Amino acid sequence: MLEIEPSRLTPVPNTANGGQPKFAHPSEREFARILDFYGLRWIYEPLSFPLEWDDSQRAAQMMTPDFYLPDLDLYLELTTMKQSLVTQKNRKLRKLRQLYPDINIKLLYRKDFHRLLAKFGFGPLAESDIPRISRVLYTERQIQQKVQELGRTISRDYARRRPVLIGVQRGMVCFMADIMRHVSLPVRMDFMSISNYSGEDGSDIEITKGLDLSIEGDDVILIEDIVDTGMTLNWLIGYLRSLRPASLEICALLDKRARRIADVDIRYTGFDAPDEFLVGYGLDHMETYRNLPFVGVLKPEEGSRK
Ligand code: IMP
Ligand code: MG
Repeated sequence: MLEIEPSRLTPVPNTANGGQPKFAHPSEREFARILDFYGLRWIYEPLSFPLEWDDSQRAAQMMTPDFYLPDLDLYLELTTMKQSLVTQKNRKLRKLRQLYPDINIKLLYRKDFHRLLAKFGFGPLAESDIPRISRVLYTERQIQQKVQELGRTISRDYARRRPVLIGVQRGMVCFMADIMRHVSLPVRMDFMSISNYSGEDGSDIEITKGLDLSIEGDDVILIEDIVDTGMTLNWLIGYLRSLRPASLEICALLDKRARRIADVDIRYTGFDAPDEFLVGYGLDHMETYRNLPFVGVLKPEEGSRK
C-alpha cells in the first residue's frame, strides 16, 4: 500500500455548508427531523475525509459523511440512492474505516430509512392497505420458554434485592405480564408512556405519563419489547438515569442489532431479531396485532422494499 504522510490523514472542514445546512436530498431533511424528534444533536456534513492522494500528496478522493451525531460520536451516511451508488459508497466506507480506525461511521440503508419514516406516520408502511402477516417468527411456545429463562436469570442476578420493573407502554404489555411471573423476587413495577409522533416541527420525545413510584436508590430493570435503532432506548436511559436509581439494566425481548444507530447496552436479550417489521405479542402496526400470541413478520407493502 502507498505510504501516506500522517499529516495527510486529517479530515478537512467542509465549508460548503457554512451557516444553514443545504441538504442535497429531501430525505436528508426528513432524517434531520427524526433526529430532532429523538433529541439527538446533529451536524450536516461537517468534515471531508481524504481517501486517496495524487502524486503531489493532494487529496484526490474524499468522503463527506452526511451527518455527525456528537451525542453518539457517530457519523451517518444515508444510502437512499441507487444500488450502484451503494456499492461505490461501501467501497469508500471500507477505505475510510481502514485509514481512520477511530472514526465511528454507519450506513443507513434505504429500507431502514423508510422504516424510520413509517414510524412517524408518513412512510410506506403507514399507508399500506391491508397489512398481512407473512410468517410466524417466534411461536408462543418459543416465546414462553425464552421468557422463563430470562426471568430465572434475573432472579439469580438480583438475589436478595428488590428490583423495580419498568415498562414503557404499550409494546411491552405481554412481555411484562409474562416475565414478572418468572421473577421469584419481591419486585415492584411501574409504567410510563412517551409520545410516539413528532409534531410538524419535529419536537422532542415527550413523557405523556410519568412514573408513579420513586426509583431513587432502587435497582431498576427496564423491560422493553424491541430495540430497533436504539434511539428511543437511548433517550429513556438518559431520562431514567436522571431519576438517580442505584442501578439500571435493560431487558429486551427482541433485539434488531443489525439496525442499531445508538449504541445501547442491553443486559438481557430474548431473541436477536432479523431486520424485518414484527408484530404480535404486544408489538403493533398502527395499533393492530398486539394481541397475537406469537411474533410474526409483517409482509412489506408491494414495492416499499427492495
Ligand atoms: P427504536 O427507537 O428505533 O429502537 O424503536 C423502538 C420502538 O419502535 C419500539 O419500542 C417499538 O415500539 C417500535 N418498533 C421497532 N421495531 C418494531 C417492529 O418491528 N414492530 C413493531 N414496532 C417496532
Ligand atoms: Mg416501544
